[in-house]
Amino acid sequence: MPKRNKVTIVGAGNVGATTAHIIVSKGLADVVLVDIVEDMPQGKALDIMESTSIDGVDCTVTGSNNYKPISDSDIVVVTSGVSRKPGMDRAELLSINQTIVNSVCNEIKQNCPHAVVILVSNPLDAMCHVAYNTLNFESHRVIGMAGVLDTARYKTFVAMETGCSIKDVHGIVLGGHGDTMVPLPNHTSVGGIPLIELISQTRIDAIIERTAKGGAEIVTLLKTGSAYYAPAASITAMVESILKDQKRVLPCAALLNGEYGHTGLYLGVPCVLGKNGVDKIIEMSLSDKEKALLKHSADAVSTLVTQLGLS
Ligand code: NAI
Ligand code: 2OP
Repeated sequence: MPKRNKVTIVGAGNVGATTAHIIVSKGLADVVLVDIVEDMPQGKALDIMESTSIDGVDCTVTGSNNYKPISDSDIVVVTSGVSRKPGMDRAELLSINQTIVNSVCNEIKQNCPHAVVILVSNPLDAMCHVAYNTLNFESHRVIGMAGVLDTARYKTFVAMETGCSIKDVHGIVLGGHGDTMVPLPNHTSVGGIPLIELISQTRIDAIIERTAKGGAEIVTLLKTGSAYYAPAASITAMVESILKDQKRVLPCAALLNGEYGHTGLYLGVPCVLGKNGVDKIIEMSLSDKEKALLKHSADAVSTLVTQLGLS
């Protein structure tokens, strides 16, 4: 019998548990949920496992407060950490989540040294640096999820504005996962028609602004935490592309090695995702204005990375 895929998710909170549920409902992999809260990951795992009889999938779900069950996972997703409350910036989570991501990655390194690791904890790009530093894995196996989410929000707002099917909206958001992210309207189309031919620049600017503040919009509405349904769907898209070696082109935080004019910095860029993680970073041709916006975003990430004090 061929080996079943296995995905570990560390942090069985809103994002982690929702991701586990989507992965299992799609029958993509057996899932291990790890969390420090006693009995909670076991309870959520059992609950999700009991849904498999309805979905007709043969995946197992295991909850744990230690790392023994994670060995041989193909992918480990890190969703452990604190999320922001209304009025907070993602950057305010830097220090507390650095400690958490560092300890979690030490466990991953010991218990699952061959996995592809997807970071989710915020501030995302900076946490990729923490993970890369601790894991000491090849950079193509340490990837951050944010661009898929930011692009999903952007495409949703474009579909809402134009009144066209989301299926026909194509576009991309580059840069760091913060207010400086860079939606690219000149690379956005609806059914092959450039967005700039369909709506006014004023409406495009409003969509860009709403996208950049998309996370805060949800935090303000929820009041007790941050978004998790769209983030979980975004993580699952990356997991599926890696497990099935689909080579999807998805915007991910990847370690740049000269691409887009940066070296040694994690930043959201278009990546081809396959079974080894990032197969390739695609360099888009950007206008001078887009290059300047991306540099501004990279500078914001660099400032946080400096604050981490990593050698
Ligand atoms: P949550 O509070 O619902 O869940 C976090 C979980 O992490 C909790 O269950 C907690 O017990 C667990 N945890 C804390 N320390 C741990 C440790 N040392 N080991 C194992 N588990 C530990 O938060 P939520 O909403 O699930 O968000 C998780 C993180 O993901 C936050 O930092 C949030 O800002 C970030 N996030 C990032 C997104 C992105 O696009 N990159 C999107 C959505 C959330
Ligand atoms: C978001 O953008 C919390 O970073 C997360 O919703």
